[in-house]
Amino acid sequence: MLNGNGIMKKKSFEDLLADTQVEQYKLKKTLSVLDLVALGLGAIIGTGIFVLTGKAAAEYAGPALILSFILAGLACTFAAISYAELASMIPISGSLYSYSYVTLGEFAAWISGWILILEYVFALPAIALGWSAYFTNLLATFGINIPAWATHSALQGTGGVINLPAIVILLIISTLVYIGTRESATVNNIAVAFKIFVVIFFILVGIGYIKPVNWKPFMPFGWKGVFSGASFVFFAYLGFDAVSTAAEETKNPERDLPIGILGSLGISTLLYILVVAILTGITSYTNLGTDAPMATAFAAIGLNWARGLVSIGALTAITTVLLVMTYGATRIIFSMSRDGLVPPILSKLHPKFRTPSITIIFVAIVTSLTAGFLPINAIAEVVNMATMLAFLLISIAVIILRYTRPDLPRRFKAPGVPVTPILAIITMIILMFYLSKITWLVALVWLIIGIIFYFTYSRYNSKLQQQKG
Ligand code: ALA
Repeated sequence: MLNGNGIMKKKSFEDLLADTQVEQYKLKKTLSVLDLVALGLGAIIGTGIFVLTGKAAAEYAGPALILSFILAGLACTFAAISYAELASMIPISGSLYSYSYVTLGEFAAWISGWILILEYVFALPAIALGWSAYFTNLLATFGINIPAWATHSALQGTGGVINLPAIVILLIISTLVYIGTRESATVNNIAVAFKIFVVIFFILVGIGYIKPVNWKPFMPFGWKGVFSGASFVFFAYLGFDAVSTAAEETKNPERDLPIGILGSLGISTLLYILVVAILTGITSYTNLGTDAPMATAFAAIGLNWARGLVSIGALTAITTVLLVMTYGATRIIFSMSRDGLVPPILSKLHPKFRTPSITIIFVAIVTSLTAGFLPINAIAEVVNMATMLAFLLISIAVIILRYTRPDLPRRFKAPGVPVTPILAIITMIILMFYLSKITWLVALVWLIIGIIFYFTYSRYNSKLQQQKG
């Protein structure tokens, strides 16, 4: 059953599900519900909380960053509820991209996929730069100093030429993903347990050192600072949507995907609010504008032993984020290639590992170059913009589907539709306006390139367009 014509042509649910059963594209079904919550936490807790929080407190919001985190968390929860409903209905890897294909038609699907590529592929270098910051910090505590030219990106304005640790970690992670899901999921589960331990450790140790005077003034940059802070630390929440990209590798997707999405987002929101309250409580927000603020906070109160542990925890945390996001990035490109919207070579599976190996190599090259030469804040803002656009589309999709396909089984039915998705749309738009002009420009150029690509390549190679109906 096909709907719509031309660029509005939609995939049918039935076709979509059948695609995943074709032997050539069949991914191994290995993931359980716990793996999914771990996958979500693995993708969420990383550079955002361990790195960006410092700059956000020092330059955007002060101690009121707690409010920024609540605001961004709320906005993400509205979107996550919609994600969970769609994930329970359409258990296909590719997430928003696949959902748009059946709800809004091919062109919207293309735009969604193109936005997700911007989100995932460019999140990786930003995350790797956070890893590099803690790595450099940790080595420095042992008296090993890597020269500044090799640890800062050329465009960062701090005397850097290339960020070598960021490149090295991206290449290691790509290799892990290249050799297969099962191995990656196991590594991920252990690392997630450790990072949760370290975050809780930071909270429990830090709580005894809080001086309420550090929370005054609470809102040094006013409400504008709170909102700018929210649109910047939005990055910290990103990743719960990565759970949905694992749909085809999940044993019981309809039940487990919503639990994975909402569970991982809920746990991280709670931890973030506590971490930020403690971070800004143990030292003045003015001291936090460093590359490794949680280590800085412990150093400020003389807890050097704890500082080392936090740095190791941050490195582990950020490594798992890289693992899940690399996995997500490659699976989205894989889905688009399977549909003929990007070249077929990108969905070719490795004969032994059954992973989209060419895509993984391609992503490794692009992310390494970006991480090597561009500054973290600029990349993170672009990623946030892409994610907000993606969440906007997901919210629209959920509303449309309720009207066009009320018949389809929804194992998880989002409460409060259409109010919840409308709230998601409103909050995303508000947060977008607090991002910089250059970020808007990059997003616009990216969309224009995407539209040109669709009308010159994808439309003519799309498998859906070649079907009759
Ligand atoms: N939320 C992820 C992080 O903060 C992307 O690293």
